[in-house]
Amino acid sequence: MSDRIAILGGSGLSRLDALEVERQQIVVTPYGEPSAPLTFGTFDRLPIVFLPRHGAAHTIPPHLVNYRANLWALHSVGVRRIVSVASVGGITLGPETLCVPDQIIDYTWGREHTYVESGVAPVKHVDFTEPYCRTLREELLEAGRRAGIEVVDGGTYGATQGPRLESAAEIERMKRDGCDLVGMTGMPEAALARELDLCFAHLTLVVNWAAGIGGEVISMEEIKQVLDRSIESVRRIIARL
Ligand code: HPA
Repeated sequence: MSDRIAILGGSGLSRLDALEVERQQIVVTPYGEPSAPLTFGTFDRLPIVFLPRHGAAHTIPPHLVNYRANLWALHSVGVRRIVSVASVGGITLGPETLCVPDQIIDYTWGREHTYVESGVAPVKHVDFTEPYCRTLREELLEAGRRAGIEVVDGGTYGATQGPRLESAAEIERMKRDGCDLVGMTGMPEAALARELDLCFAHLTLVVNWAAGIGGEVISMEEIKQVLDRSIESVRRIIARL
């Protein structure tokens, strides 16, 4: 068992450069294979387990990530706290903003989104009023403060199906719904973590204005530039946890 924090890495964080690897572990789950073997190591003296959500070579698109296997694998090695790093589009927050959201709206469909199976009584309905772990959110915000990096406290993450980006009308609707951020991997990840009673929080990096907000076509080149410029801040916050 371990009380290590797990880092679920997203786009731009398929590996952690400063991670001192102790060992890797292939975990078999009842739900199939996680995105990659789990990497145990220390990150600036913080013992962590690292799992790149899109696979070690970033080959797994958001709608095909085996979220159930990923969360199950981390839970099975004793992890109780997960920081999920995700790059997102900004609806009310601009590129290069870091945000620890406090709410979620789920627009995904057709994903394996629960561990609740039929025929097992009583049917479990987890509370999801506050979808993120309050203490871990606070720890992330405090880590940001100590690192001298501005991190927005709170916001609503809208999870879309992908892999295509959204239409301007979809983003307009999400804005009316109250979404501040849009990403493709936040759900069912957060809900599965809650079903397993894991403490889960998102550290998001805005890499582009969402469709129709910046007024132009979303350019992958610009997203890459923002990621290259800002991912270091994400690493520094994790190092301060
Ligand atoms: N939409 C959805 N997911 C994203 C975006 C976006 O604009 N940018 C980064 N992830």
